[in-house]
Amino acid sequence: MENKFRRIGILTSGGDAPGMNAVIKSVTCAAISKGVEVIGILGGYSGLINDRIRPLTKNDVADIQSLGGTYLYSDRCDEFKTEEGMQKAIATCKKHNIDGIIAIGGDGTFRGATDLSIRGIPCIGVSGTIDNDITASDITVGYDTAMNTVMKLGDALRDTCESHARCNVIEVMGRNAGYIAIETGLALGAIGVAVQEKPFDKEALFKKMKEARANGRRSFIVVVAEGLGGEFSESLVKEIEAATGIETRFVRPAHIVRGGTPTLADRNFASKCGAKAVEKLLDGVSDVVIVSRHDEITSMEIKFALILDRMYKNKLKDGDLEKFSEAQIEEMKKICDERRKYFDEMYNVVNTIGY
Ligand code: F6P
Repeated sequence: MENKFRRIGILTSGGDAPGMNAVIKSVTCAAISKGVEVIGILGGYSGLINDRIRPLTKNDVADIQSLGGTYLYSDRCDEFKTEEGMQKAIATCKKHNIDGIIAIGGDGTFRGATDLSIRGIPCIGVSGTIDNDITASDITVGYDTAMNTVMKLGDALRDTCESHARCNVIEVMGRNAGYIAIETGLALGAIGVAVQEKPFDKEALFKKMKEARANGRRSFIVVVAEGLGGEFSESLVKEIEAATGIETRFVRPAHIVRGGTPTLADRNFASKCGAKAVEKLLDGVSDVVIVSRHDEITSMEIKFALILDRMYKNKLKDGDLEKFSEAQIEEMKKICDERRKYFDEMYNVVNTIGY
């Protein structure tokens, strides 16, 4: 069958994530190898609206897999949510004969991909966000690097805490998801991890810290997920000092966690996702997101993925499940259960061994 795609576009949208460049490289090289031209769209959906493009060659992207940030720049674009913005984006696609788009980002990016797909521009999403908050995918591009960055910062804090017999509270990004916090809390040997998804027993933390200090423990790390709000972590510092007498400092690495050289895991996961996205698009598939399920790179319909996400976050609206079969709803519940089980297990391990 003759390939109907002559030229495809690629964009990165929403918060950037380390590894996005490896997706861009992978998509570009995979597509060109199949005789398809690649147009980079600059600055996410706003670049598509405002006709900011750059044709990409294999040479352009040859070594970008090792770079942090996104080579194509990114943006959160409100105009794209309007019909007028969408029509401008479609006009840019028509002007440059862009037959399909691969969009890397989070759930907002996927909603945009669906909007374009239903208006006749086939789109494939790839999950790129440090937050790991795409329920459809066990991991997301950028998550591993972000965790490793927090781990390195936390190890450095541990050194100085040990020297000064202090505690350090670290507030980490993740939006409303506590994945970065629990995983890094475990890796850092944190005595406590506070996340939005679980009730946090401050008194139990203080008791544990006092006992450990009485036992000769000099340093303490407490990890807090940003979802609890900045005030929570800042006041926790004062509460720890008041309740335990242990001198406590506060660090919010914020966007530092989003930058930097992607890890091997992120580069290679991203590369596989990019190649799979091209394969699907050229096969005539549209309106799906590339996901990792049980270590397999596969695809999921965006409409399924978005409702699954709402189910996981207990944010289902009336009528959300009406378009899905019993079997699909069961599948959603199964994925949510698996994910919650994983989160609970991690949380329990952190709390059991935290010292
Ligand atoms: O989604 C990625 C993320 O870094 C979140 O962890 C964080 O809450 C948010 O983006 C920060 O957004 P901005 O870059 O717009 O400040």
